[in-house]
Amino acid sequence: MSDKKSFYLTTPIFYPNASLHMGHAYVMTIADIMARWHRLKGDDTYFLAGSDENTAKVLKVAEENGQSVEEFLDKVSAGFESLYKELEISHDQFIRTSDKTVHWPGALKMWESLVKADAIYKGTYEGLYCVSCETFYTEKELVDGKCPVHGTVPERIKENNYFFRLSKYAPEIKRAIESGEMEVLPESRKNEILAFIGRGLEDVSFSRPKSAVPHGIPVPGDEEQVIYVWCDALVSYISALGYGREDDANFNKFWPADYHVVGKDILRFHTAIWPGMLLAAGLPLPKKVLVHGLIILGGQKMSKTIGNVINPKELIDEYGAEALRYFLARKVSIFEDSDMTKESFKDAYNGDLANGLGNLTSRIMTLAETNLSAPVELPEKSIPQDYIDAIEKFEINRVANIVWGKIAELDKEIQEKKPWESKDKDLIASLAVKLYTIGRMLNPIMPETSAKIKALVKENKKPGTPLFLRKD
Ligand code: ME8
Ligand code: MG
Repeated sequence: MSDKKSFYLTTPIFYPNASLHMGHAYVMTIADIMARWHRLKGDDTYFLAGSDENTAKVLKVAEENGQSVEEFLDKVSAGFESLYKELEISHDQFIRTSDKTVHWPGALKMWESLVKADAIYKGTYEGLYCVSCETFYTEKELVDGKCPVHGTVPERIKENNYFFRLSKYAPEIKRAIESGEMEVLPESRKNEILAFIGRGLEDVSFSRPKSAVPHGIPVPGDEEQVIYVWCDALVSYISALGYGREDDANFNKFWPADYHVVGKDILRFHTAIWPGMLLAAGLPLPKKVLVHGLIILGGQKMSKTIGNVINPKELIDEYGAEALRYFLARKVSIFEDSDMTKESFKDAYNGDLANGLGNLTSRIMTLAETNLSAPVELPEKSIPQDYIDAIEKFEINRVANIVWGKIAELDKEIQEKKPWESKDKDLIASLAVKLYTIGRMLNPIMPETSAKIKALVKENKKPGTPLFLRKD
């Protein structure tokens, strides 16, 4: 038996109707930083990623591509994984909701638990549906008759469905959020969801006709219906761990999740519907839901549906994954919406990396290699407490600011003390030690740069090639 603390972190499982854009790279990167930090601390860490495949939209897009749904999904989810590899995402599992062995048993077990709890009933849904959100909307939620997220006109549908008795669980959900049993972070999102629940939660349609989503998960005992994609997708957080399967050791070990990391666009699903389902099924609620802001381009949410996207692969190919991870950690506000342009990325690359950290490393290690006869002695622990406090609170911008604050201090020290004139060995050694600590602090954000800097200091060598070099 290990007495390590378990740490379970999830990311949204993305819709595979198009390739991933910067917003998806963003949430994967901040979650990855957190997962790496917990592994460094020695926690038994499990980091989940995946794709949300049983959707109506996929059907259309596969058809447009002249592919079967299966072929199309295989291609797109392979593309997800290849981006994650390039971006150095260290997930432990990639779950696909089309996976009949890994995911379906859990989805079916959840459905049956909801039925057993009398939380499911038959009804008729008549109203609006946005295929891009896979969400039912009421008239008053629309903006000028259009979906508030995608700006598209929703479909009007009338269907015989099964409904989930969400209204019944509203008081308990509210209590769990208020008491902090399920923390919603930041505070502003907690207030937002409490206000939403306070206006009354309605029951939600929880199935779709099989004709709308033929590849969906069949409702047990009803051939004509498939499980609504959100009911199915949310369960991936536990089916991935073995819920519903014979081997559920990971479920017992890692549930409840320490963090669901999600964008503000899917707040309601994670902090109203999902806890409602878990309460009905008699399962513990996630400990924390961390809600990040969105990347904006030209004043609008960067979105596959809207088409205003920056492709992360493009920037990775030219500048490297580490540069992109830096930008996302430092320059994109975690809790607010942020504008991102290729210009702002290039400025940060040149100023903070190539001419910043890269230059600094090269200057210090050139001095060290020339003037010191042996590598410096390294302190055992040197991560500052404010860094630890910030990362423990998921304040990724603050973490990156603390590291770049140290870099600026070191830069200033060199300018002022001019070690290239004095060749003072103690001074040069102390600069190398400080650089090493910066290398340590960079580990979760830029794992490769961190390893490079630490190796240079340990070997007392200047870099053979610049740390940051554009490939064009
Ligand atoms: O909602 N800026 O999938 P999705 C920052 N399948 N992050 C963004 C973003 C942007 N402009 N656009 C998207 C779904 N994201 C469901 C999830 S979970 C059980 C099911 C990120 O492909 C952000 O984290 O639309 C957002 O919540 C998520 O991608 C939505 O991805
Ligand atoms: Mg979306």
